[in-house]
Amino acid sequence: MTVTLTVWRQPGPDAQGRFETYEVHEASPDMSFLELFDVLNERLIDKGEEPIAFDHDCREGICGSCSMMINGRPHGPEMGTATCQLHMRKFQDGAQITVEPWRAAAFPIVRDLVVDRSAFDRIIESGGYITAPTGSAPDGNLILVPKSVSDTAMDAAACIGCGACVAACPNGAAQLFTAAKVMHLNLLPQGKAEKDQRVLGMVRQMDAEGFGNCTVTGSCEAVCPKEISLSFIAKMNRDYGRAILKGSG
Ligand code: SF4
Ligand code: FES
Repeated sequence: MTVTLTVWRQPGPDAQGRFETYEVHEASPDMSFLELFDVLNERLIDKGEEPIAFDHDCREGICGSCSMMINGRPHGPEMGTATCQLHMRKFQDGAQITVEPWRAAAFPIVRDLVVDRSAFDRIIESGGYITAPTGSAPDGNLILVPKSVSDTAMDAAACIGCGACVAACPNGAAQLFTAAKVMHLNLLPQGKAEKDQRVLGMVRQMDAEGFGNCTVTGSCEAVCPKEISLSFIAKMNRDYGRAILKGSG
C-alpha cells in the first residue's frame, strides 16, 4: 500500500505549526497506524530529519496515550478502537490521510502530535480514590455487590483517559471522562463514603481546568474507543445535584 500522510508539525508549544506531507510506500494492510508512523520516522531519521513526535505506550488499547485526529476524527474511522489498534487495512491503497493533535484548549500542544493531558490527572487527583483501612485483605464476600451494579461500574472503569471525548466535543467538554471516573467509584459500596466529596471535587477541578460545558451533542460517546455511555454523564449530574442539595460542598 502507498498512503499520503499530511501531518501537523510543531517544534514546541509556542512555535508556529504547519502541515507537512509525506508519501509512505512501505505500508502493509496488517500494520497498525502507529507502525506506519514508526516506518516513516525511521526514514526521517535516516535522512537526518526530525522524527514526528507522537504519544504511545501499551499499543494494545489500554493506556490511552495514542491521541491523534485522523481525517478529523479522534482515533480514526473505526468505532470503539484506539489509534494503536487501528490497522492500515481500514484505508484504501492510495489514501490521503490527515493527522493532527487533539484540538482542545485544555490540552495544549507539546510538540507535533503530543499534547499535555495532565488536566485529566488533576481531575483524578481531586477524587478518584477511596479511603480504606489498611490491614489484611477482607474476605471477598464480605461486601456484596449486585451483579448489575458491578457490571455498570466496570463499564465506567473501562475509560482509558485518552481524551478523544474532549477532542471530538464542539465545546471541548470533559464530562464523559469525568463522569466515568466519578461513577466507577460512586456506584460501588467501597466508594460510597466519599461519594459527595468525590463528585464535587472532580467536577470543580474539571471546570477549573478550562474544559467547556456539556450540551449533550453525543460526539464524545461516538468516538470513545471504550464506548463509554453518555448515561454516565446523567448519573454524575444526579450525584452532583444531590451533593449540592445535601450541602456537602
Ligand atoms: S470517556 Fe472514552 S474518549 Fe473519553 S477519555 Fe475515557 S476512554 Fe477516552
Ligand atoms: S498506545 Fe496505549 S491505548 Fe494506544
